[in-house]
Amino acid sequence: MKFSVSEISDLIRHRRTLYPKDYTTREVHRELVERILTNGTWAPTHGMTQPWRFTVLTGVARERLSAFLGETYRSSTTPEKFMQKKFDSLTLRPMQSSVVIGLGMVHDPNGKISERDDLLAVACAAQNMQLTCAAYGLGAYWTTSGATTGTAMRDFLGLGENGYAMGMLYIGYPAGEWPNSHRKPLENVTTWLTE
Ligand SMILES: Cc1cc2nc3c(=O)[nH]c(=O)nc-3n(C[C@H](O)[C@H](O)[C@H](O)COP(=O)(O)O)c2cc1C
Repeated sequence: MKFSVSEISDLIRHRRTLYPKDYTTREVHRELVERILTNGTWAPTHGMTQPWRFTVLTGVARERLSAFLGETYRSSTTPEKFMQKKFDSLTLRPMQSSVVIGLGMVHDPNGKISERDDLLAVACAAQNMQLTCAAYGLGAYWTTSGATTGTAMRDFLGLGENGYAMGMLYIGYPAGEWPNSHRKPLENVTTWLTE
């Protein structure tokens, strides 16, 4: 066999969500980011639409994202529901990450492929990217929370009217221990049909 299933399984199970507050300030070099993105583009894609669009934010560009997330949260939240802690974490995350990748999808409404399948293809790309991060020992956090999706983010990312903002992938080197996780047993989530 060309690939070690045991190594691939280890990587898949090793991948964890690590939050930006737990990253160091160490820079993730562009070469690594390009490999992460390239692996994203090798995801399966129905009809080869390759609908993913990536926006890489590093350096001071992260400040624009931070300000945008803060403004979007403030303007979409009533004063009664506004939570300073949420505002702070939203605006801090870009600055705590060496690199942030805005995940976008652009759908061709005249094509044969459904919007659903184009969205699913980008989710596959996101997983490829997260696995690549894990292989490099990088923390990654994919969030689709309020301000990171929706039309305001779509416009911030310049995706156009057929575009769809699919959240942010925050990336950085972890400061502490790599976390553990767990999954439901297979029998809880699987039905075998044999006749
Ligand atoms: C599409 C998607 C969106 C997510 N959005 C959030 C989010 O908004 N906030 C959050 O804390 N985690 C978010 N997560 C991460 C999950 O919380 C995380 O994957 C889950 O807890 C399992 O942990 P693991 O990734 O370490 O296996 C998201 C994951 C996916 C796949």
